[in-house]
Amino acid sequence: MSQAFDYAALAPFLSVHLNNLGDPYAAESTLLNTRALEQEVLAYFGKLWRSTDRKPLVPESFWGYLLGMGATEGNMYALWSAREYLRTQDFTEGAKSSVREEPVVFYSEASHYSMAKCASALGIPTFEDLGNGLYPGQCPVTSDGRWPHGVPTDNGAVDPERLAELVDFFADKGHPPIIVLNAGTTFAGSFDDSPAVWQALCPVLERHSFRTGTDGANRQDFWIHVDGALGAAYLPYLEMAHTQKLTSERGPRFDFSLPYICSIVTSSHKWYGAPFASGVYMSREKYRMRPETHPEYVSTPDTTLCGSRNGLSALILWYALATISPDEQAATAARCTELAAYAHHQLQSISEWHPSFQVHRAPPSLAVRFTRPRPDIFDRFHLSGEGKLAHIVVMPHVTRSAIDLLVDALRSTDALA
Ligand SMILES: Cc1ncc(COP(=O)(O)O)c(C=O)c1O
Repeated sequence: MSQAFDYAALAPFLSVHLNNLGDPYAAESTLLNTRALEQEVLAYFGKLWRSTDRKPLVPESFWGYLLGMGATEGNMYALWSAREYLRTQDFTEGAKSSVREEPVVFYSEASHYSMAKCASALGIPTFEDLGNGLYPGQCPVTSDGRWPHGVPTDNGAVDPERLAELVDFFADKGHPPIIVLNAGTTFAGSFDDSPAVWQALCPVLERHSFRTGTDGANRQDFWIHVDGALGAAYLPYLEMAHTQKLTSERGPRFDFSLPYICSIVTSSHKWYGAPFASGVYMSREKYRMRPETHPEYVSTPDTTLCGSRNGLSALILWYALATISPDEQAATAARCTELAAYAHHQLQSISEWHPSFQVHRAPPSLAVRFTRPRPDIFDRFHLSGEGKLAHIVVMPHVTRSAIDLLVDALRSTDALA
């Protein structure tokens, strides 16, 4: 999480209850709300993620809302929307779903644990669940036929060919895929290559007569969600920095200019910084869920996961976007990337002291992974760990001197004990 923020100017708003209950684009239902700011924030992300504008409103126009929780809520909402879209006959007027079987979720082994939790809460089987239940020992991508928890990765990013093989297996049995791609995995910060995934996937879907949306029909038989908790905010600014020649690093495209991307989520407290968890969910107008209920009591369509939604999230994110220009964000992204490369380089020198010391970074990731140090060093630098590795994430508040302090500590003779 970025700690580089200052929202002190907004302190007076702590004395009022701001509630954005309901759909951001419907008639206002609460007297005190920040819906107008929420719409401005969504319009900003519509541009950042290269979506179609809402004026004029067309099926491809962006639709979304600001989350009451962080990316976990957005992931939950994406899977819920995907399940309804693939199950429901008349989600989009005039177009019928041709789906024969239950949808099945695919996410990589590097995905955040919220994906398994959300799939379980929504009762959507993952390919591991369905494989173990109906096709034990038949996994096409493992040598022993066992179903893995996630799709195999290559250097932290999902392997498009393995993913396509898995989708092929289940498409053959009539199951439409819900695919989660990462724009910045939790531990390695790796970016899945959406265009490469689509290149491998599209022929598989077509072979099984699953509609791909490329034939002009307004309906398709798959859903691709991008979990960009950190990376969906950082990567577009890095791309701007690359265009401005501030950095040589850049990542793969993941945004709505790719017609097969259905939804994107980001956590606002990660890249922008916020005093509490919050985030942005965005899809396209044609994927906006039809509410189950039409509560007369609140006089707004019930199209979000929460009931009441705190209005401070919109205010805070609007303030961040209004006070820090895209060019400043691009400069920050370039500085963070450069510092992550510096941390990687400095940490590599530790192997002079400890020959078994490992360091990894997958550019343009802001995460640098290295051999887990002694518990007191781990705690002192608030590191996070996975197995034998620890990591740092170079967020906007991280300084060169903080990295130097860590490197010094790791040079001590018993640092890895
Ligand atoms: C890739 C990814 N997805 C989802 C999440 C969950 O985000 P939140 O804690 O904002 O719900 C995280 C958190 O670290 C993450 O890294």
